[in-house]
Amino acid sequence: MSLSIADLTPEAPAAVALWQAAGLTRPWNDPAADINAALACASSTVLAGHDEGGRLIATVMAGYDGHRGWLYYLAVAGDRQGEGLGRQMVAAAEGWLAGQGAPVVRLMVRTDNAPVAAFYERLGYEPSEVRVLGRRLS
Ligand SMILES: CC(C)(COP(=O)(O)OP(=O)(O)OC[C@H]1O[C@@H](n2cnc3c(N)ncnc32)[C@H](O)[C@@H]1OP(=O)(O)O)[C@@H](O)C(=O)NCCC(=O)NCCS
Repeated sequence: MSLSIADLTPEAPAAVALWQAAGLTRPWNDPAADINAALACASSTVLAGHDEGGRLIATVMAGYDGHRGWLYYLAVAGDRQGEGLGRQMVAAAEGWLAGQGAPVVRLMVRTDNAPVAAFYERLGYEPSEVRVLGRRLS
């Protein structure tokens, strides 16, 4: 099916519910705040995919840091997985990032999420020999 894909605007609770069901939330993150921050910044967004009935069934967050584009929070509703919707959402996010001027796109996959790494490899993404380090600033 063809999704209707647009910026997520008024529906943060539905997106948060989707992410919780998809296992993407963590106690130390505030997903609603993540959505608001991404939507408040001109170089990032959250794309939402709706079915014909207007139900939010897919999301992806995209941001361009001036050097690379990044993807986060890709999720498809459990009852709609395996229909090509994840591929469509990634393509939409790639298009959005290209429009921002990003020459390359990257993403991080939690080490315990092997299935999603296989999904991205199916879409042409290649593993990188990098170690990701981080520190909280607030
Ligand atoms: C990852 C996810 C978004 C994939 O969405 P989806 O709609 O089921 O994927 P699609 O149907 O678009 O699959 C696209 C292609 O990837 C393949 N694929 C999907 N899942 C796969 C897997 N686990 N392993 C290998 N290939 C996979 C499909 O076979 C399909 O191949 P094809 O187009 O060549 O036939 C979905 O499983 C999901 O929401 N998972 C939970 C949330 C999550 O982990 N998000 C990632 C956070 S980093």
